[in-house]
Formats: sequence, structure tokens, C-alpha cells
Amino acid sequence: MNKITMAVLGFGQRGIVFSNVAKDFKDEVELVAVCEKNQDKFDMIKNKYYLNESQIYQNENDFFSKGKLADILIISTMDQDHYLHTMKALDVGYDILLEKPIALTKEHIFKIKEKANKLNRKIAVAHVLRYTPFYQEIKKVIDSKLIGQIASIHQTENVGYLHYAHSYVRGNWHNSNVSSPMILAKSCHDIDIINYLMGQRVEYLSSFGSLFYFKKENMPKGAAKNCIDCKVECPFNAINFYEKNKDWMAFFTLETDVLKVMSNRNLNYGKCVYDMDNNVVDHQVLNMQYENGTTASFLMTAFSKTTHRRIEIKGTLGEIVGDLEDNIIHVMPYGKDNYEINIALLTSDLSYHSGGDKNLLIDFVRGIRDNQPFNTDINNAVESHYLAFNAEESRLKNGLVIDAKKEWVHYGRN
Ligand SMILES: NC(=O)c1ccc[n+]([C@@H]2O[C@H](COP(=O)([O-])OP(=O)(O)OC[C@H]3O[C@@H](n4cnc5c(N)ncnc54)[C@H](O)[C@@H]3O)[C@@H](O)[C@H]2O)c1
Repeated sequence: MNKITMAVLGFGQRGIVFSNVAKDFKDEVELVAVCEKNQDKFDMIKNKYYLNESQIYQNENDFFSKGKLADILIISTMDQDHYLHTMKALDVGYDILLEKPIALTKEHIFKIKEKANKLNRKIAVAHVLRYTPFYQEIKKVIDSKLIGQIASIHQTENVGYLHYAHSYVRGNWHNSNVSSPMILAKSCHDIDIINYLMGQRVEYLSSFGSLFYFKKENMPKGAAKNCIDCKVECPFNAINFYEKNKDWMAFFTLETDVLKVMSNRNLNYGKCVYDMDNNVVDHQVLNMQYENGTTASFLMTAFSKTTHRRIEIKGTLGEIVGDLEDNIIHVMPYGKDNYEINIALLTSDLSYHSGGDKNLLIDFVRGIRDNQPFNTDINNAVESHYLAFNAEESRLKNGLVIDAKKEWVHYGRN
């Protein structure tokens, strides 16, 4: 069996996850080069991933100028860099596993897809939900026709109040002018999985949502600009959160002393959630109508105690209900006995995104090695992104109904 070699551009949270998966599957894939601009991470890369000095690059130009250093490249830099990094990587000759979002405009997404196809390069997009055993089992039940035809799907993405505060009020995705709108950054996964399960093309969609709560007028009386100076009791207090969740602090610092980190009053992660320059929505709904008359609705909300996705599928002959975090699927065929699928009994490894990250990387590696199709090819992944842009356009126009049919030709659904 040929081993596939892998390079990573952007050794942050996601780059590290895929490198860990590569270690677990060392007979099939091997990390051989990293480009990471933060030099403080170099010792960790050498010690934990066994690379030597000559395999680590700090500057993307040096990295790309060396030519193709591996069979595949993971692009896990920030959203706004994906377009340039992917276009360069295609020129150099890489097949790519690209983190979502593909890019920040429809035009850039289209150009990436066209260039990859013209050069005959493969791109997988990290739509990890398709690879979770939870959604794979739901897909099998749907394909078995036990619940008949799907009439509607509802999915809720409960982001969780602390995850929302960390990533979307204080963190990298808090302002769409520097990253991307919430429906693209977070919920392109949901649009993709709903459409994958539905198996139909979206004809029309409409969306509403806003930044309802995390803004200055809701700042409690007497609250300070930084949590370290604040005496108000608050569920969003950064010090309490990072003391209990030190692994989350590792996303932005290698330091482990929470008070020391939070005493830097310029650091967004220690600031009051009501006093940031955040602008992304904290709740949004999306309605979609498909070509066969079926419908789907989606809710993204910051306002939940825990982080979990919940799905309800209504079929002509039965229902499916499940929660990705419980990993239990309830199948309820009409006129027959209900049954449960307990994912934990099917697999013992639900690490990294409920098992999704591992299956994604391995499917791509095998796809490249054996020249076979993989499930999140760029040619099907662009659809979720186009629809996310359309949803954002609708939201900004007070729920205007958008005709998605006009763009089917752009994402190969005509
Ligand atoms: N598929 C998913 O479910 C999922 C989940 C989380 C994040 N993401 C996406 O993954 C991407 C990375 O997110 P993350 O959470 O790992 O971010 P991160 O900030 O933890 O990691 C990004 C890394 O890239 C490095 N970097 C940035 N620009 C660079 C450059 N020009 N050259 C070399 N290194 C550079 C940074 O120093 C950092 O280490 C984002 O696009 C994000 O939206 C996807």
C-alpha cells in the first residue's frame, strides 16, 4: 500500500487535528512538511510530530517556492486567506484538503473550483458532518425508504453560549468584515448536510436573523471593559470560563496561567462580551424550498446551554429524530415499532468532531491513493456556500425570497 505524504499550511487548531489523525493512521499517511507563521509553535511541531528544522517553514512564499513537498496539502489558515493559498497550491500541483469556508466570495469559490477542474487537481472541503457515523446512519435509514419520502427536515445548531462567546463575540469569527458571516462560517455545514440528506436542489430560500444580545446596550450597570476588572456576576466571565476550560485557551496562547493571560487588557478573549466590535448574528433562521416541493428549516442560535445539533426528519412513512451529541437516532416508522440506533455501540472512536475529522482525512487520503471519488469534493461543496451567501443576502434584505435556480449552473446542478 502506497503511503500518502501530507503537508499542512496553518498549524492551528484544525491543522493539529488532521496531524493527530495522520499519526493515528501512520501506515496510510505521513506528515512531512508544515508552514506555520507562529514561530512559538515550532518546538511543539518538532517534538510532537517529529519534523526537523528543514521540514518547517515560517513563510508561505518560501514554502510554495520549494515546489510540491507532499502528495496532499491541508489548508487550515484563516478564512480570508483560503483563496490565495488555494490558488497558489493548485499552481504548485497539490491535491488539497481545504478547510471551510472555501473562500469569502462566490466569485473566488467559482474560480477555485474551475481552476482545480482545469488542472485536474482534487479538492476536498472539510464538511465533516457528512463523515460522522451519526449522519451516515441517518442517511442509510433514508436510503432504505423505511420512512418513505422526506417531506421536511428541521435542524437546530445550538452553538452554546460559551462557545459562541469564545469564537463569535471575542474570537476569530466575531466580525464578518474580517472573517465571514455566521451562516457561512458556522452553518455552511448545516446547509450541506440538510441538502445531502434531502437529495434535492433548493429552488427558493429566505432568511431572518440579527445580533440580538451581545451589544453595548445590554452591558450590565457597573460592568468593566475587561473581565479581570469586573465585579458583576456574569455567565460569560472569561476568567471563569478559561479556568474551567484550559484547552480552549490553547487556541490562542501557549501560556497556561489564566490570570496572566487575562491581564493583557488588549486581548479580545478577556474583554466584556457586551463591549466588543462583534457584528455577526447570534440567531438566524433559514427556510428552503426544494424542486420537488419539500421544505427544510434551520435555526442557528447562540442561546443554548451546551453545544449540540438536533435534527428532525419528517417522512411520508415515518420520522427520524436525533441529537449529534447524544449520538442516538430515534427511528419511528408509522404502524411499526420504533427503534434506536446508538452510535456508541457501532464505534468506540467518536473523537474529533464525533468521528467526522478522522473519516474525512482518511476518505480523502484513500481517494487520492486509489484514484477514487470522496464524499466532499469541491464540485458538490460549492453548493452549500452559494446557498449561505444567498441566505445572508436574504437576511440583509429582511427575508427577501432568493431564487436559487438562477445559480444552479454555477455549481453544476443544472
Ligand atoms: N471544518 C470545521 O468544522 C472547522 C472547525 C473550526 C475551524 N474551521 C476552519 O479552519 C480554519 C482554521 O481554523 P483554526 O480554528 O484552526 O484557526 P487557528 O487560528 O487555530 O489556526 C490557524 C493557524 O494558521 C496560522 N497561519 C495563519 N496565516 C498563516 C500563513 N500565511 N502562513 C502560515 N501560517 C499561517 C496561524 O498562526 C494559526 O496557527 C478556518 O478557516 C476555520 O473557519 C473549520
